Amino acid sequence: MSTEGQQKERFAPKQPVELADPKDDVITLEHLQKCNGETEGYPTYVAIKKTVFDVTGKETYAPGKSYHVFAGKEPNRALGLSSLAEADCVADYESLTEQQKGVLNDWYTFFSKRYNIVGRLVDESGSNL
Ligand code: HEM
Repeated sequence: MSTEGQQKERFAPKQPVELADPKDDVITLEHLQKCNGETEGYPTYVAIKKTVFDVTGKETYAPGKSYHVFAGKEPNRALGLSSLAEADCVADYESLTEQQKGVLNDWYTFFSKRYNIVGRLVDESGSNL
């Protein structure tokens, strides 16, 4: 993958998106899982490499829609593999090839240009995973 500096416009949305300053709030896995588009009163989140993006209101992550399988999860492996299989929607991406890790990084760039960062995913004990 090219660096940001080389290709600033890479994965830029067609319509400009006004993003808030990224937040560094602690978000537990338990909380992330509730933010799956099915829990009333909760936003919809997708995490990539511990960064949590707020995708609330984006139809494609709603129940029954194409990318709902990613909602409330950190689907690093699925994104790297270009898979929609629920079994691949896991955080561990160590076994991916360099090329697949590049794909995952490209998705990170894609999300970071569209969705507000609302926090960092941590384990229940509060330490960084
Ligand atoms: C038949 C295969 C597929 C088609 C035709 C398709 C089509 C599309 C289209 C048209 C978009 C919208 C692009 C945009 O807003 O700029 C999109 C977005 C996306 N696709 Fe696919 N896709 C396919 C397969 C997959 C697979 C296998 C994955 C698994 C990683 C995937 C993950 C995503 C994600 C994460 C988005 C971003 C959604 C968003 O937040 O806007 N797609 N896809």
